[in-house]
Amino acid sequence: MNESQQSINLDVPNLTSAKIAIIGGGNIGVALAQGLAQSSKYKEKEIIITRRRPQKLQKLGSNGFLITDNNRLAVSNSNVVVLAVLPQQISEVIEEIKDVLTESHVLVSAVSGVSIKNIIDLIGKQIHVVRAMPNTAISIGESMTCISALTRSSDKITDVRELFDTVGITMVINETQMTSATALCACGIAFFLRAIRAASQGGTEIEFHATEALKMAAQTAKGAAGLLLANNTHPEDEIDKVTSPKGCTIAGLNQMEHHGFSSAFIKGITTSAIKANGLYEHEES
Ligand SMILES: NC(=O)c1ccc[n+]([C@@H]2O[C@H](COP(=O)([O-])OP(=O)(O)OC[C@H]3O[C@@H](n4cnc5c(N)ncnc54)[C@H](OP(=O)(O)O)[C@@H]3O)[C@@H](O)[C@H]2O)c1
Repeated sequence: MNESQQSINLDVPNLTSAKIAIIGGGNIGVALAQGLAQSSKYKEKEIIITRRRPQKLQKLGSNGFLITDNNRLAVSNSNVVVLAVLPQQISEVIEEIKDVLTESHVLVSAVSGVSIKNIIDLIGKQIHVVRAMPNTAISIGESMTCISALTRSSDKITDVRELFDTVGITMVINETQMTSATALCACGIAFFLRAIRAASQGGTEIEFHATEALKMAAQTAKGAAGLLLANNTHPEDEIDKVTSPKGCTIAGLNQMEHHGFSSAFIKGITTSAIKANGLYEHEES
């Protein structure tokens, strides 16, 4: 059976129950849908996910999510619309949906590098627009999501904050800080994953099978992050508890620093921030 022959709920039944439309069912769009459904903020049947090739979302469709390639239908049947397409795809999507967007919608854009002003200009009328920068841990309710709106005090930003609070921790920031939040939190998932992968490779070299080493490294990383969040401490306070004089931890830690560990991390984040800042402009030119 080829993709176009697969059975899928392309006509989106049960539209009366739909509340949130996710335009762009790729990595982050699907992660958000999964996180919201798990959090019980929305039931699967209240989440419409769109993409041009909806057959790729068939599994989600069979799990009860509403799947379609019809962006206008999705927007017309929801009050919250999340844009989760690539920066180079946003103009086309907004052109398609702008006349079905109304004042009662909240448009949440997760699209990197595209400002609220850019979006309102593309829509051509005043709509409630909130930017959100989640990360893929949203699928398990562990996102660090930064949100911003033109006015911090609007009811709509409170609503959007409540929505993202159900799938992780949310921080309201100025829109000018969005590219930095992209680098630290959205790209950051990849940086920490690579650090865990590197730790597991070290573990394999000294003793353990790859799968054991990865599990041990991942749980250790989770514990380290958990200490900071639970105790509200500084990393160096927790590091001091692990580094005894002439001990093995400080020897390993210093060796990492001799090879530029902190410097590499910092340079990675600053480089990502520079790149994130130019994503939309480069696509437009
Ligand atoms: N991935 C992350 O961790 C992350 C985190 C925060 C923010 N973001 C931002 O979120 C956006 C999406 O990133 P991503 O990683 O999820 O990209 P992605 O996996 O490429 O997802 C984009 C999705 O948009 C769909 N799409 C494209 N044109 C469309 C249209 N006209 N109508 C409906 N759907 C359409 C694509 O599917 P079809 O080709 O089938 O249409 C694709 O599934 C980007 O702007 C990114 O910067 C990503």
